[in-house]
Formats: sequence, C-alpha cells, structure tokens
Amino acid sequence: MERTLILVKPDGVKRNLVGEVLSRVENKGYQITALKMLSVDRSLLVTHYAEHEGKPFFEPLVEFMMSGPIVAIVAERNRVIEGFRKLAGATDPTIAEPGTIRGDLARDQGTKVVQNIVHGSDSPESADREINIFFPELSK
Ligand code: RTP
Ligand code: MG
Repeated sequence: MERTLILVKPDGVKRNLVGEVLSRVENKGYQITALKMLSVDRSLLVTHYAEHEGKPFFEPLVEFMMSGPIVAIVAERNRVIEGFRKLAGATDPTIAEPGTIRGDLARDQGTKVVQNIVHGSDSPESADREINIFFPELSK
C-alpha cells in the first residue's frame, strides 16, 4: 500500500479549505489514515524542505509556512503519490489546470513565494521521510 503526506498550507487553512481538500482526496477514493492540525517551527521546516535550502524562495517559503496553522494528512492507496499530485495541479496556481486544487482554488497573490494551498510528497522516499517528520508516532 502506497502512502503520501499531504499538507494543507496556511493559506488553505485561513481560507477554510481544509474540508474541500479532504473531500477531493476522499472522493477520488484515497483513504485518510492520519490527520492533525499543527503549527510548525523553523527547524521542522528546514528538515522538511531540505532540498530547497539556498534557493531564492526558501526564506519566504519558511516564513509563509510559519504564518499560521497547517493540517497534515496521510493518505493511502495504490499510486496515491502520483494521483494526489495530479489532484493538486501545477506548482504555479496560474498555470495549474482548472479542475485541480491549485487551478480551482488558488491564484497568484504577488507574494515572494507561491501560495498554493497544498503540499504533496513527490516520491515514495520523500513520502516516508516526510511522514516521519510530521507523524513520528506512526513509526514507533
Ligand atoms: P509542494 O512540495 O508544496 O507539494 O509543491 P511542489 O512539489 O509543486 O513544488 P516544489 O518545487 O517542491 O516547491 C515547494 C514549494 O515552494 C514554493 N515555491 N515557490 N519560484 C517560487 O516562487 C517557488 N517555487 C516553489 C511553493 O509553495 C511550492 O509548493
Ligand atoms: Mg515539492
């Protein structure tokens, strides 16, 4: 069974889109197996976004992700990693296809970092790593 980590980012929580995101995941047929709301600190984000450290958008990304609570979700089923990234749509919400979460629900806000409602793991290795960061209790 494949697993992925989904985050509803602070923009999604502020705009009351948690239910909308969960509905899309559940309606697609994926199983939600863990879920929590939390506020994250810098050190967690530096670990989670290690691949982006040093990029121009890294600091704005960390600031944005600390700007309010987020919701962390584990979803499961065959090919959920690829499937959720299709549901999310392209990183840039202006480019994201209508019908996707980002294409339907986000737009360019002119901010230093793209605010795009959700995160989804991009590989089985990333999913395992990220689930351990957000749900350490699951690996005990
Ligand atoms: P995510 O990790 O959030 O699922 O998004 P992604 O794979 O589509 O995008 P990624 O390249 O991993 O970037 C992580 C997040 O950083 C912000 N970003 N801003 N040029 C920019 O302003 C830029 N590039 C990336 C976005 O919030 C993106 O989701
Ligand atoms: Mg990514």
